[in-house]
Order: sequence, then structure tokens, then C-alpha cells
Amino acid sequence: MNFNIAVIAGDGIGPEITTEARRVLDAVGARFGHTFNYNEVLAGGCAIDAVGTCLPDETVEACKASDAVLLAAIGGWKWDTLPGDQRPEQALLGLRKELGLFSNLRPAILFEELKDACPLRPELIAGGLDLLVVRELTGGIYFGEKGYRDTEDMGKAAYDVEEYSEGEVRRIAQVAFDMARKRGSKLTSVDKANVLESSRLWRKVVEEVAASYPDVELNHLYIDNAAMQLVCAPQQFDVIVTNNIFGDILSDEASMITGSIGMLPSASLRGDNFGMYEPVHGSAPDIAGEDKANPMAMILSAAMMLRYTFGLEEEAAAIEGAVKTVLSKGYRTADLYRESCEGQEGQESQEQILIGTAKAGQLIAEEIG
Ligand code: IPM
Ligand code: MG
Repeated sequence: MNFNIAVIAGDGIGPEITTEARRVLDAVGARFGHTFNYNEVLAGGCAIDAVGTCLPDETVEACKASDAVLLAAIGGWKWDTLPGDQRPEQALLGLRKELGLFSNLRPAILFEELKDACPLRPELIAGGLDLLVVRELTGGIYFGEKGYRDTEDMGKAAYDVEEYSEGEVRRIAQVAFDMARKRGSKLTSVDKANVLESSRLWRKVVEEVAASYPDVELNHLYIDNAAMQLVCAPQQFDVIVTNNIFGDILSDEASMITGSIGMLPSASLRGDNFGMYEPVHGSAPDIAGEDKANPMAMILSAAMMLRYTFGLEEEAAAIEGAVKTVLSKGYRTADLYRESCEGQEGQESQEQILIGTAKAGQLIAEEIG
């Protein structure tokens, strides 16, 4: 089959990890008989430099015309001093909004091979970790009214409004319940209903939706408690559903439990098959162009694209399997590499081999065959 992918390599390490994701997709194409056509388009800081705006109209049009969007990373120090509405990150928010991508799936899976890289005590993660953060992506404080006003005696004040409608909560709750049903049938909704009105509405609507999913066990946690539970008892979680900003924070926290933020893929969906796929990590300008970045989150994002948008389950599993195999052979990018890695008692510690971005992509592509 033929698939048209809009590719946004973006800034920092973006171009390097994009090259590796394409290499792996091409290996999948060769093995399973598919053709992936890539339409490379500009967004972020590189677009500001090239055409003066972070999200050119042509980019939005190209994304809308594609079957799926693959995005690497956006932003960097170079553009950090621009006014808020001109920062490269606006491209990301603009794409999410323009494409209607209201649900963001961020699976955090601790690969058996990486349990040494997990910062938690081994007994907390014995038996592994496999959770899914479902983050609302086009509402809340990210998109609410914002601005400045003068106060009487405290100078200027700035504000960002957190606002959710019943419809916005209902549709993300439905996605989360559907996901929970396909997994461990447990859903934790995270809010701050002890303080925030928007969270009280959130909780009420989630409860309403729950009535249609009697087979899914639902509980509610406040965000502060959830952040704590995630590091002291992470195995209680199956699916977590939460608003835009809490989801941003919790997904970074969850990612570290899996060893490195360099391992976490994500899918941003709008309710049909269309989606935008991107690693959870950022553009890492400190290591850009040095062949040090871990391309696995990007490669695993491509796997999610195959699964959710193209319906190619076997192909997606082939990528995930190849990543695991490469890790099981001891290959590690710098973010995962431990110089002296102590084996568990009675087990031999495995020797680790430090590799760069291109080598990681090459090894994964070779495993696919
Ligand atoms: C993410 C990122 C973005 C977000 C930034 C870069 C705007 O942190 O995708 O998690 O906050 O959504
Ligand atoms: Mg984030």
C-alpha cells in the first residue's frame, strides 16, 4: 500500500532523529511491501528563519492533505527571547488546534532490557511497568484567554485561563475509557477538584461517561497525589486521563520511570484515523548535530503511526520488536548508557555498547530486515 506522510523535522535534534525514523520506515516498507511517501515541510524555529513565521499556511495545508503527520521536535535557545506569540512552540500548538488533535496518547512502558536505567528502586517496578497517559490536547490553560492587565498596587498582572467545556471533557474521557477497555480496564482521572472549578466539571463529566463503561474501574486522584503515586507506587496505574497541563507534566514524569525521556513516543488523534506522531521529548539543542540523540522515541512514534492511522499492527509490532532486540543486545544511546552497570544478584551484568543516533537507527532497521 501507499501512504503519504507529512514530515516535520523541525529544530535541534529533529533532523537527525527524522532521518533514522525514515530509515526504519523504509525497512518496514521493503519487508512488508508498502511505499511511504514523505513530504518534508517546515515548522518551528527553522520556519521562522526560512520564511519568517513558525507555522506557514503551506505546512498546515500539507498536513491536512496527508494521511498522517510525523513530527520530530520544535524550539531552541535561539528563539527563546521572541515574544510568546511568536515562539516556535506556537507551531506545535497551532498544528494541534488546526488539525483538531484533541487526544494525546503517551504510553510509558519500561522495557525489561532497560530496568537498570529506571531511577526507582527495583522492588517498585518488579514485574515491569506499562501505563498510558491520555492527555487532553486542544483545551485548557494552553488555549484559554491570556493577557495582561494593570493592578491597583501590584504592578502589571498576567493571566492564562483554564477552561473546559462538557463536550471537551466528554470526548477525551470516552477515548480514555475505550483505551482502558482494550488494556487493563482501569482508569484514573487526574484533576484538582479540591480547588479548581474546571476540575469539578471535569470530574462530573468523567463520572457521567463512566456509566457507559461499567466494565472499567474508575478512580480519581488529585494531581499532587498522582505525581507522588507515580514514583512511589507506579504499578497501580493502567490508563491515566487528565487535562492539557497536568498531562504535560505527568507524562514527563512517567517517561523518566521508563529510563529516559528519549524512549517515549506519542500519538495525537482527532477521533478518526488521522493523527500526528511525535516523541514526547524536545529538541535538545545542547546535543543537536552531534549524533548523540536517542532516536527511539521518534522511531516508536512511527510505529504508533503504523498502528493507529494505517492499521498496520504487524508492521508496528515489528518496529517495537526491533527496538527491544537492539536493546537486549546491549546497545545504548548516551541517555541510557550506564558506565558500570551492576547486575542483579546472581545475574551477570550485561555489557553495554555506547552508540550514536545513526547507528541506533541502522541497527533497528537491520533487525526489521
Ligand atoms: C509536549 C511539549 C509541548 C507541550 C511544548 C513544547 C509546547 O512539552 O508536547 O509535551 O507543552 O505540549
Ligand atoms: Mg511536555
